[in-house]
Amino acid sequence: MTQTTIPDGSAAPRPSVPDIDWANLGFSYIRTDWRYLAHWQDGAWDAGHLTEDNVLHISEGSTALHYGQQCFEGLKAYRCADGSVNLFRPDQNAARMARSCERVLMPAPSQAAFIDACRQVVRANDHFIPPYGTGGSLYLRPFVIGVGDNIGVRSAPEFLFGVFCIPVGPYFKGGLSPMNFVTSGYDRAAPHGTGAAKVGGNYAASLLPGQEAKARHFADAIYLDPETHTKIEEVGSANFFAITKGGSTFVTPSSPSILPSITKYSLLWLAEHRLGLKVREGDVPIDRLDEFSEAGACGTAAVITPIGGIQHGERFHVFHSETEAGPVTRRLYEELVGIQFGDREAPEGWIVKV
Ligand SMILES: Cc1ncc(COP(=O)(O)O)c(C=O)c1O
Repeated sequence: MTQTTIPDGSAAPRPSVPDIDWANLGFSYIRTDWRYLAHWQDGAWDAGHLTEDNVLHISEGSTALHYGQQCFEGLKAYRCADGSVNLFRPDQNAARMARSCERVLMPAPSQAAFIDACRQVVRANDHFIPPYGTGGSLYLRPFVIGVGDNIGVRSAPEFLFGVFCIPVGPYFKGGLSPMNFVTSGYDRAAPHGTGAAKVGGNYAASLLPGQEAKARHFADAIYLDPETHTKIEEVGSANFFAITKGGSTFVTPSSPSILPSITKYSLLWLAEHRLGLKVREGDVPIDRLDEFSEAGACGTAAVITPIGGIQHGERFHVFHSETEAGPVTRRLYEELVGIQFGDREAPEGWIVKV
């Protein structure tokens, strides 16, 4: 068996190259070889280490299990044509994780520790990174959870910071295919709640609405603002954007209960600086969809999913087309994905080489 040197300098046996059908990867759990784990106790994080064990052994009283004291992140590593590996804006994920941790009273890893842990995991699992040209990437899942013996509703005595990774396929098999969505009567977050933090409770709240939307053959639920239910907030676990008729302006909702999508802010910048569009962050009333010629959902996993149509009550509104992505959506997609895979010039600081 060949030997590989993991980033702490020790040599470990390297498992055989995984037998993966790279062209047909979906978004499912695949156990990779190495994951990172650090432990916080008595006011400080330990040095952290890579481990092959994918099972956590934690106290039955862990606050993460009972009171939802946890948060997570999602970002990807991309294999480039020259064989190098790109992380896309990991500093933004580190910053968002720090904000999520603050909201639910947890210590956050520093930005340097966050990026270092991601790099270690990608390097140690290099053989799981989908080859350039397959459209696949290595999805990284950092998380912080409250652990340790406890029963009262309070912040945990100890915390774990972990990062694991999974090879994932292109969201779009055979190009950008539009999907239809339906507005939900449920809220994923409260008006002054935790919507802007990437904490598990928001996702638990979205399971039933998501299931109900899928039972009606929609891709997912669209959440309206929790205060008035008149404005679009999120599209499943992605942000919403739209292009005004005539193609002049990129519009995206702004609200304290939306998770600030790193993809969305990247598209906003690209729309303005690469496509020469006007950009507007503001209210998107659900009864004013006629103003738009294109719409999409965006996020790390979704990349850009063109929105074919939105069902709201009795009304079904179609944007550009139910079968084809609109021209501006297509240009944004090419720009974003080109940067991520290293084929187009990235704005300063967006790409961190592994
Ligand atoms: C609720 C929600 N909104 C939006 C996004 C998209 O955010 P990002 O572009 O940072 O992946 C995600 C995924 O992280 C999400 O879970």
